[in-house]
Amino acid sequence: MITDGHPSTRREFLGSAVVVAAAAVAGPRLALGQAPVQGSDTIRVVVVGCGGRGTGAAAQALKADPGVVIWAMCDAFPDRIEAAIESLKQAGLGDRVQVPPERRFSGIDAAPRACSSGAHAAILAGPPGFRPMHLKAAVDAGLHVFCEKPMFVDGAGALQVIDSASVARSKGLNLVSGFCWRRSSPERALFERVLAGDMGEVVAMHSDYLTNPLGVVPRQPGWSDMAFQVRNWQHMVWLSGDFIVEQAVHSIDKINWAFGNAPPVRCTGVGGRALRESTPERGDVYDHFAVVYEWPDERRATLMWRQYPDCFNENTDTIIGTQGRAVVNGWAGQHRISGPKAWSYPKDGPRPNMYQVEHDELFRAIREGRRIDDSDWMVQSCRLALMGRAAAYTGDAVTWDQVMSDRESLLPPVLSLEAPPPPAVVRRPGRPAQA
Ligand SMILES: NC(=O)c1ccc[n+]([C@@H]2O[C@H](COP(=O)([O-])OP(=O)(O)OC[C@H]3O[C@@H](n4cnc5c(N)ncnc54)[C@H](O)[C@@H]3O)[C@@H](O)[C@H]2O)c1
Repeated sequence: MITDGHPSTRREFLGSAVVVAAAAVAGPRLALGQAPVQGSDTIRVVVVGCGGRGTGAAAQALKADPGVVIWAMCDAFPDRIEAAIESLKQAGLGDRVQVPPERRFSGIDAAPRACSSGAHAAILAGPPGFRPMHLKAAVDAGLHVFCEKPMFVDGAGALQVIDSASVARSKGLNLVSGFCWRRSSPERALFERVLAGDMGEVVAMHSDYLTNPLGVVPRQPGWSDMAFQVRNWQHMVWLSGDFIVEQAVHSIDKINWAFGNAPPVRCTGVGGRALRESTPERGDVYDHFAVVYEWPDERRATLMWRQYPDCFNENTDTIIGTQGRAVVNGWAGQHRISGPKAWSYPKDGPRPNMYQVEHDELFRAIREGRRIDDSDWMVQSCRLALMGRAAAYTGDAVTWDQVMSDRESLLPPVLSLEAPPPPAVVRRPGRPAQA
């Protein structure tokens, strides 16, 4: 029974959420005899990966529900935890960051301990190479999850995420993905029309994601090779999946959305490192990819992604239907459909912060005993990104069947800051020479 607004066990906490839902649906009669449900019931959140996104998501979780507290924090490096706490304090949220030293977990293998520290929900915002392990740790501990994109960077990770999603389902846990455009009001309104057939059948789509290179972290004395790679995780394929998986996956997710989550049959692509400096910080990632996804009946989607300095930048999707076209540019706020059912998102239409909406919806679902499960389409979007990367890395035409049977793991055999990381070798397309 809840006595002080701080449920002592997860079961009590979840029980209270179920009572709210039951009372809301069936009226006050059902609530008679039940433990009172207090608006102050606490939802304890553990943050795994306390960098920019983890800290931002923590603030959004706190703003989503007055009962949320940040209960534990986990990062490979203790300085990132301290910086995140400081930044939440600076944002005026310090009184709800209740993370004593014993609930600050550091190390690249610390997530299971952090997830088992008594929280109810987890924010997973570490490097995506670790995400499958982090998701497993969270659902094994019975936590509701906000899971940043991408959810995995290789075939083995995809299978582990699918397993964890099924555990989450069996335990009634929420699994909300960080594919933020899915929670942007103008995108939701436009894709709803696309999927309702307002443009006829979708036959083609082109997505541009043209942006600047990210920063790097210079090596400091005393860092191991592994620490250096983890600090620069975006540029290491085993940790980020390369940028088609880490960044362009946002555009790929919109392609997946427009094509109704139906998998393509084949993908071809190119990619390489045209302007990226060959320094250790820049690891083994490409700086451009262009891929073509093919569906039956000559339907196609193309993606062009690059990170070049001092060039034109763009983030636009053009969707071609048999009876109309759509243009989506979230950066510029353009969302319109042309054709017989022409439409555009109203200038004064609501545009709530999509990152905030992710957490508003997650914590509302937890409170109301409802379940959000993004797993099917989030897994599919990430698999499409792996498909594009495989096409560009190998120079081969990659089939969906190959993606589905991919079991490769990019993780090194030993995960420790003292263990050797994988060598950063830039992939060169082409078939190996015959012996
Ligand atoms: N949805 C979006 O628009 C959006 C925007 C930015 C980032 N992201 C995603 O969020 C994730 C984090 O990105 P970021 O920009 O915050 O990067 P970041 O480098 O700022 O933060 C990542 C943090 O994870 C920590 N970390 C490394 N290994 C860890 C481990 N084994 N366990 C726990 N923590 C570990 C790092 O030390 C770092 O503090 C990425 O998956 C990224 O793609 C999504």
